[in-house]
Amino acid sequence: LYESTLSDLKDKIKSYPDFPKEGIVFRDIFSVLRDPACLRNILDLMVAKIELLKWTDVDVVVGLESRGFILAPLLAVKLNAGFVPVRKKGRLPGVCKEIAYTLEYRSDVLEIQQDSIHQGQRVLIIDDLIATGGSLGATCKLLSGLNANVVGCLVLLELEQLHGSKNVEAPVESLITF
Ligand code: PRP
Ligand code: ADE
Repeated sequence: LYESTLSDLKDKIKSYPDFPKEGIVFRDIFSVLRDPACLRNILDLMVAKIELLKWTDVDVVVGLESRGFILAPLLAVKLNAGFVPVRKKGRLPGVCKEIAYTLEYRSDVLEIQQDSIHQGQRVLIIDDLIATGGSLGATCKLLSGLNANVVGCLVLLELEQLHGSKNVEAPVESLITF
């Protein structure tokens, strides 16, 4: 049942060659999220995976700006956890920790609010997609700096050939691989 749902979801993800740059094949999650049944299935499958992995009892779900902000709060509600954002530099008020990083088609700086997570809190990181792992790797480093207990990272899509999970210190799991 899960296998057929996952292959249906995979088939609905539209791919755009040479976006946003020549040589990049952009996998567009919005082509599945707009379908109500797909959106519900994605959340149900993510929760099932989290339970299978025993990544439950999390205090906080961390989501990465921007596309991580879609799935992370929806999952936080289902897991009875809070939501904490990791944002691009200059957008969060108060004392922040920052880290420079490189992703598949750009370099940037990510930030987290220093008081957003307490020492030892169980954290699950959610994003739409892992490519090089630059974004998730940097997020794990930010969370280590706050002494969080990162149980793992879960994404909807993984671009397998880029071996992004090698650049992430926490375990990385995905629903769909390309
Ligand atoms: C995208 C995507 C992931 C990241 C993955 O974010 O949402 O966060 O790239 O790439 P990586 O594994 O090579 O780090 P991006 O900041 O480009 O865009 P967004 O603001 O649209 O989410
Ligand atoms: N983020 C990084 N690489 C990406 C890709 N190929 N498609 C969609 N989002 C991405």
